[in-house]
Amino acid sequence: MSAVLRPGPEFEPMRESDLRAVLEIEDSIYEFPWTLGNFRDSLRAGYACWVIREGRRVIGYAVLMLAAGEAHLLNLSVAVHSQRRGLGRSLLHNVVGVAREHKAKILFLEVRPTNEVGQRLYSAYGFRQIGVRRGYYPAHKGREDALVLALDL
Ligand SMILES: CC(C)(COP(=O)(O)OP(=O)(O)OC[C@H]1O[C@@H](n2cnc3c(N)ncnc32)[C@H](O)[C@@H]1OP(=O)(O)O)[C@@H](O)C(=O)NCCC(=O)NCCS
Repeated sequence: MSAVLRPGPEFEPMRESDLRAVLEIEDSIYEFPWTLGNFRDSLRAGYACWVIREGRRVIGYAVLMLAAGEAHLLNLSVAVHSQRRGLGRSLLHNVVGVAREHKAKILFLEVRPTNEVGQRLYSAYGFRQIGVRRGYYPAHKGREDALVLALDL
């Protein structure tokens, strides 16, 4: 019997050709997903957009906006069937590395107060809450606030 070697997940820059797979994941995990246009604009604006690929399949992605001295994590997502395997943390780690390479001193992100999984991931990583943005997210009834988190790099 021979062992089958499967390559581990790889982090790669997102390409336009990944967008269909990215959007499929996005639509399946968020009630208020980003649109194709949001991802396209992010790529064209030169944001740092990364995917995690397993074989040829995209199983996660992140979008990071880099500005002078700071970075803003706009999207961090892992496909449902690939969650709880440490990929979200690895993706976050990768993004933190990219931000550091660009000499960012601080990384910001927003998270819904109802997103306990996201909050657990970020606080375990060392993010601290620095504020609240009122009515930041769309919700079924009105809008939902965002917790603003930051990590010193
Ligand atoms: C948040 C998300 C990216 C985490 O990705 P993941 O690959 O499942 O996470 P990991 O396996 O790396 O887990 C990292 C930590 O997150 C937390 N976590 C992840 N899934 C969890 C769950 N179902 N319940 C509780 N905590 C969870 C835990 O603290 C975990 O650490 P532990 O395994 O040592 O307990 C993923 O759940 C996701 O895409 N969710 C939907 C989109 C989203 O909410 N994105 C964040 C928006 S700000």
